[in-house]
Amino acid sequence: MTSSALKPVQLVSVATAVPDCVLSNDELGQVVDTSDEWIFPRTGIRERRILPPDRSLVDLATAAGREAIARAQLDPMDIDIVILATSTASERFGSAGAIQGVLGAKRAVAFDLTAACTGFVFAVATAAQFLQTGCYRRALVIAADVLSRTVDWSDRRTCVLFGDGAGAVVLEAGQTAGLLGMELRSDGTGCDLLTLRNEAEPHQLTDSIQVGQYRNQFIAMNGREVYKFAVREVPEVLEKTLFHSGLEAKEVDGFFLHQANQRILDAIAARMDVPVERFASVMDRFGNTSAASIPLALADWVERGELTVGQLAVAAGFGAGLTWGAIAFRWGRLDD
Ligand code: COA
Repeated sequence: MTSSALKPVQLVSVATAVPDCVLSNDELGQVVDTSDEWIFPRTGIRERRILPPDRSLVDLATAAGREAIARAQLDPMDIDIVILATSTASERFGSAGAIQGVLGAKRAVAFDLTAACTGFVFAVATAAQFLQTGCYRRALVIAADVLSRTVDWSDRRTCVLFGDGAGAVVLEAGQTAGLLGMELRSDGTGCDLLTLRNEAEPHQLTDSIQVGQYRNQFIAMNGREVYKFAVREVPEVLEKTLFHSGLEAKEVDGFFLHQANQRILDAIAARMDVPVERFASVMDRFGNTSAASIPLALADWVERGELTVGQLAVAAGFGAGLTWGAIAFRWGRLDD
């Protein structure tokens, strides 16, 4: 299929779901040797949300997905494909199926996609391929993570950074181009910089055969190197995405970057010579929610009227893998 035959794709709605439980920096100071005075200036994080043990990632993701479908004025039966971007599925065979079932999106095929904090961008890019080719008409992309279940709560270098949340967008094939361009990247040589591993422990099965049994490890991170990677690579991927989209940075109304660290956003904005006020920032309230962080930031701007239908946006994710990537889009349902 030539590119001229590709169907235009629009991002028509966004919604989020976060747990009620708030964990502040001061409260974290009772758990590990840290303080708001250390955390806030270095990260921009004041508090994060924590999912209680009796609620699941599926509950959170389903709530965000249901609301995104409602805001798009659709019925779950209108959805053709559900992609769940997550690194913290409770079901390692994939949690998208359970979400599809609870939503009643019976016509939809559903699967998980794992790309850490770049998961939302990769999932939107993946869903868009199905819509652009005409294979499907409407997609629900949900990005949800519960990193509170994966951190070592005695490790102050990591546990202060992360939180739980979910965000969802509905994508629709239409007449006018919403999605304008993208650039997706991976570098597996950096895979040890940020990890959430299952390690195989040897188990003697018979006299002659040993098998490996998975044991979950906590998140481990080389913070300095991850910081350098983000500040080096993200401006380049943003510039390439803008170029593919025929845009210049100064035309973009809102930048929706992965919410890892305010200092990373400040450095990227400075490198791109864009006022940092045009970079959405919600990490003070939610911390780093991995895949969920971009739709949390996008929903914040849309709900406050900072990004309106037809305005230009760029979203960029970066994180473990290493993975990074960006998409440029004109927000909203554009054919009405
Ligand atoms: N509270 C108090 N002190 C802390 C602390 C905390 N939460 N975390 C680390 N420290 C201490 C360390 O123990 C160390 O002390 P020491 O020198 O006595 O051992 C000192 O602060 C510096 O630690 P370091 O890890 O080198 O800090 P840093 O300056 O690199 O800042 C980050 C840490 C995490 C804020 C920073 O590296 C960063 O933002 N990296 C990017 C991480 C990220 O965004 N990851 C997700 C990407 S998807």
